Amino acid sequence: MQTFPLIIGLFVAGLTNAFQENIEKATSCSRSPLVREAQLVCSAPQAKRQRQTSFKDDTPGLWKKSDQRYQPPSDYKLPPSWKGPEKCFQEFCLFSNPNFGEGMSLITTSRIAYLASKAPVTSISGLQPTAYYEAEVPGKGAGLFANRTIHRGEIIFQRHPVLAIQSTPHLDLDPRVREELYQAAIDRLPQETRARFLRQVGTTMYDKAEKNAFRIFLDGSRKHSPHLGLFPEVSKINHDCRPNIHYRITDFTHTTVAVRDIHPGEELTVSYIYGKTLHADRQKQLHEWGFNCTCSQCTLPPLEIGASDNRIRQIKALENEIETLMAHPGGKGVKPEMGGKLVELYVAERLDAYLAPTYTRAALLYSMFGSEERARVFATEAMAALEREVGPQAKDIESMRRLAEDPKGHWSWGIKVTSGTGASEVGRNETRRSGK
Ligand SMILES: *[C@@H]1O[C@H](CO)[C@@H](O)[C@H](O)[C@H]1NC(C)=O
Ligand SMILES: *[C@@H]1O[C@H](CO)[C@@H](O)[C@H](O)[C@H]1NC(C)=O
Ligand SMILES: *[C@@H]1O[C@H](CO)[C@@H](O)[C@H](O)[C@H]1NC(C)=O
Repeated sequence: MQTFPLIIGLFVAGLTNAFQENIEKATSCSRSPLVREAQLVCSAPQAKRQRQTSFKDDTPGLWKKSDQRYQPPSDYKLPPSWKGPEKCFQEFCLFSNPNFGEGMSLITTSRIAYLASKAPVTSISGLQPTAYYEAEVPGKGAGLFANRTIHRGEIIFQRHPVLAIQSTPHLDLDPRVREELYQAAIDRLPQETRARFLRQVGTTMYDKAEKNAFRIFLDGSRKHSPHLGLFPEVSKINHDCRPNIHYRITDFTHTTVAVRDIHPGEELTVSYIYGKTLHADRQKQLHEWGFNCTCSQCTLPPLEIGASDNRIRQIKALENEIETLMAHPGGKGVKPEMGGKLVELYVAERLDAYLAPTYTRAALLYSMFGSEERARVFATEAMAALEREVGPQAKDIESMRRLAEDPKGHWSWGIKVTSGTGASEVGRNETRRSGK
């Protein structure tokens, strides 16, 4: 079978198994070869603060083989702007460069430090600093607020980690030595960056790392790749179960994007937990992060909480149903309206940060059944959602663009066909163009 881009490939192939789950993985994970976004982010989009003790149990299957492009030459040397290796523990040492963007310290192998030194410095981009401001939130510490209308799709900011720590020293070092090492790593940062790091929640350096890290993978080899990535600017963004910001990590860059219009004075939020979670489970999971959930969704009146839980159950049931039907040969029994209904439920449930797979699937379903207008509409929405949630490099964007422009020329067009009364499967003769 030809290779299709990710979400679509899963849709087509899958017509076999567990495709919904895979679609979510595909869209919530960065596809960049150099840095993989946290597994916790992959399997539970937006979950931010994974218990770091699970680091060692590395996730099978995410990386199968190393990417040759990221093999350093045998005689590699760090550029002179970098200090280190120093303060080594096994093969992990401290490397630092105060002039790399906002400054960067790494506790890692020399190979990974070399790869990091070759990464392009994230040009600190996004909104003008006056577009948002920092203020205290009762009971939550600092938070960020919009100072003007921030439009859906706008990049709030992009940052590289100011500190990345390989998981082995984090887990295995003697706590006293570890604390000193982390302190030294912070001391190597420019003063302003250091101050930002220290303002993060947490008592000790170790505690700050634990409470604020995003899990990142710094190369394709897997062996030494899981790291804790610290992005102090991002840490200021508080939790909401229905966040207005989505984040992704690509290479060394952490990008936050508005997923709906944010009004002046409104707080900027990300979700620390998975979106499609029932009220009681949200409470429980957030409790494990040490707080009672008081977000907009958790404090709805009881009737609305019940309605929201019902929608989440409906979403899950419908996704399972589509998955089951698509596992049959040719997706027998699947109906395009199922895709439309799912979009409706996601939007009603304000799952704005998770729309890309849903729009993509709806577009494909309508196209499969030869419904031109709806295929166009959903493909157009899918393009924008993919760009927000996966980034402009998402391969499926191109396929969705072709679908939006010329549904009848798309490989998915009419591969299942309606015949006025009830869908009948035809399709074998339809032009099936490559979706490459
Ligand atoms: C908010 O925006 C106004 C102008 O639009 C600007 O004068 C002000 O400094 C901004 N506030 C912050 C905290 O950036
Ligand atoms: C959460 O709420 C419970 C019950 O209202 C309370 O006992 C507990 O102290 C609260 N926890 C936090 C961290 O605020
Ligand atoms: C499929 O194509 C063949 C030959 O091109 C034709 O005879 C047949 O009627 C077509 N079937 C359908 C369902 O269109």
